[in-house]
Amino acid sequence: MADKSSDSTDRGSESDIHWFHSFAFPDGSTVDGIKSLEIQRAEADLFFESDLAGKSVLDIGAWDGFFSFEAERRGAARVLATDHFCWSGPGWGTRDGFDFAHRALDSNVESLDIDVPSLEPAALGQFDVVLFLGVLYHVKDPYGSLEAAARMCSDQLIIETVTALHFEALPAMRLYKPGELGGDPTNFWAPNVPALKLMLNTFGFSRVEAIPSPVTQDHPLSRPRGWGFETNARKKANHRTIIRAWR
Ligand SMILES: C[S@@+](CC[C@H](N)C(=O)[O-])C[C@H]1O[C@@H](n2cnc3c(N)ncnc32)[C@H](O)[C@@H]1O
Repeated sequence: MADKSSDSTDRGSESDIHWFHSFAFPDGSTVDGIKSLEIQRAEADLFFESDLAGKSVLDIGAWDGFFSFEAERRGAARVLATDHFCWSGPGWGTRDGFDFAHRALDSNVESLDIDVPSLEPAALGQFDVVLFLGVLYHVKDPYGSLEAAARMCSDQLIIETVTALHFEALPAMRLYKPGELGGDPTNFWAPNVPALKLMLNTFGFSRVEAIPSPVTQDHPLSRPRGWGFETNARKKANHRTIIRAWR
């Protein structure tokens, strides 16, 4: 694991960094992270369907920051990237990728090392658009963490998460055994869409849309209701879902 005591003046090589995000930098160099550029771009088109021009954006759990930099590229007036788990906490990641990309893109994105429960509008203000991407299933307290993301948001909250129990009409969350979901012991909970809608309505969002992530083939939300009978394997399956919610 790389040294977490990142020095933003250390210009280091991108090959020393264990990248999560992929990038194509203006100088023609590229980075192949765990997540492909193709998927990131397809996700960004869904996250940022509404115009970002002049908006303030908070990216919670930004890691290497692809979506923060993408929000800036799409015209956001101010972007704050935050993380803790992978920047200086117990996660295997570091903020070296974020710092490298920040320099390579000559970016004005701001950054703050802060964990989700510590996010407070009294200290940081609210943001027009809040990104809570790929974080919800990693936290032990998904209700409190989503509430923290929600309180930072004055208009639109965009969530990307693993979802489960698509055939349960009641709001519910599935708990995974350590390592059961993707072999990653930092994955705990996956809500179903009714649970996400209930939490978001409770936190003051009047309109909530759930759409299939481009990562998931054959997403239950893509199938017509009442489509055939569901096998136990389908009922147990998890999917990735994008939620767009408005105040
Ligand atoms: C799968 S990455 C998602 C990165 C980026 N937002 C994206 O969607 O591509 C998970 C992020 O959640 C953060 N994270 C993981 N576990 C966490 C925890 N227990 N509390 C807060 N953040 C956590 C990590 O630091 C990392 O930035």
